[in-house]
Amino acid sequence: MSEKKELLKVENLCTDLITARGLYHAVRGISFQVHEGEILGIVGESGCGKSMTVKSILRLNQEDKTFYKGKVFYWKGTGRKNLLELSRKEMSRLRGREIAMVSQNPMAAFDPLYTVGEQISEMLRFHKGMNREEAQAETERLLEMVGIFPGAKRSRQYPHEFSGGMLQRAAIAMMISCGPRLLIADEPTTALDVTMQAQILEILRELKEKMGMSILLITHNFGVVSEICSRVCVMYAGQVVESGTVEEIFKNPVHPYTRALLRGIPRKGREGRQLETIPGAPPRLNQEIRGCGFAPRCPLAKESCYHKMPEPWEAQGHWSSCPGQFCQVLESGEEEEKICG
Ligand SMILES: Nc1ncnc2c1ncn2[C@@H]1O[C@H](COP(=O)(O)OP(=O)(O)OP(=O)(O)O)[C@@H](O)[C@H]1O
Ligand SMILES: [Mg+2]
Repeated sequence: MSEKKELLKVENLCTDLITARGLYHAVRGISFQVHEGEILGIVGESGCGKSMTVKSILRLNQEDKTFYKGKVFYWKGTGRKNLLELSRKEMSRLRGREIAMVSQNPMAAFDPLYTVGEQISEMLRFHKGMNREEAQAETERLLEMVGIFPGAKRSRQYPHEFSGGMLQRAAIAMMISCGPRLLIADEPTTALDVTMQAQILEILRELKEKMGMSILLITHNFGVVSEICSRVCVMYAGQVVESGTVEEIFKNPVHPYTRALLRGIPRKGREGRQLETIPGAPPRLNQEIRGCGFAPRCPLAKESCYHKMPEPWEAQGHWSSCPGQFCQVLESGEEEEKICG
């Protein structure tokens, strides 16, 4: 496999929020990389910290109520910068131009009082210095690129005149208008029907293939991951618990949480089998989590898992914070026998 260049490297990122109920450890030491021209998926249950991770990368949390630790390196030219150390001004210059974000709710991306075209044109004029005519022509081109025809007529309509799926496509058009190198898509298809979901995923795939854009795709749906991602990080309670290529993780999931998630989706070759849900609930993030946060829900948990994290498992770029079934411990009297494979 050829070496891919890193574009973003998150190193041991922690995000603590000050809330009325005390300090909330929303992101608890996350590390991952996004390479140039790849689609990396982050998958996990609701509340596991996916949005908080990407909001931390772009520093979109309320500043006086958020503490960050760790590093978020972004490569530009031959150098790299830690985004957590940039000034506010540098950071706002980078948002949209270098790293753009599309969220689950496209309505939030648009102001209902202005036409869709006016808002996309405004981005082009502000960030790219285009004049009114140039910006209008580019807006129409972008709308048609994401499948909204005719661009000229549609650009003069207001957000409420667009359907949900069309507005999500328009939001993508606006976010890619300044040619970012990294697009963060936070649950971009969650509110859409299956047909519209497929269309949005196709647009993301084209952005990667035709424009070489890197995409960080957040989803709670493993099906979406299998459609377009090349690698995936599985998140649980503010941490990455497993990462690797999509093919490898689908074929050989190691972490008991990943295995449980995969048993909950319909898959080829498992037709007729009952889909499983994961019993129990994730731990509260405003309390200290001792040992492995998944232990109370884990079918393989041992006594020690409640006190300390197990030794991670790794093989050829596939990593898991727990060796799972590769390291079952059989209790035989006082002795513990390990079966590792
Ligand atoms: N402003 C906030 N104040 C306090 N807690 C928050 C705040 N925003 C998020 N949280 C908490 O941080 C945790 C992580 O939230 P986050 O939004 O990142 O989850 P998520 O994985 O994106 O979930 P979903 O799939 O539902 O979007 C959650 O438990 C949430 O309740
Ligand atoms: Mg979210």
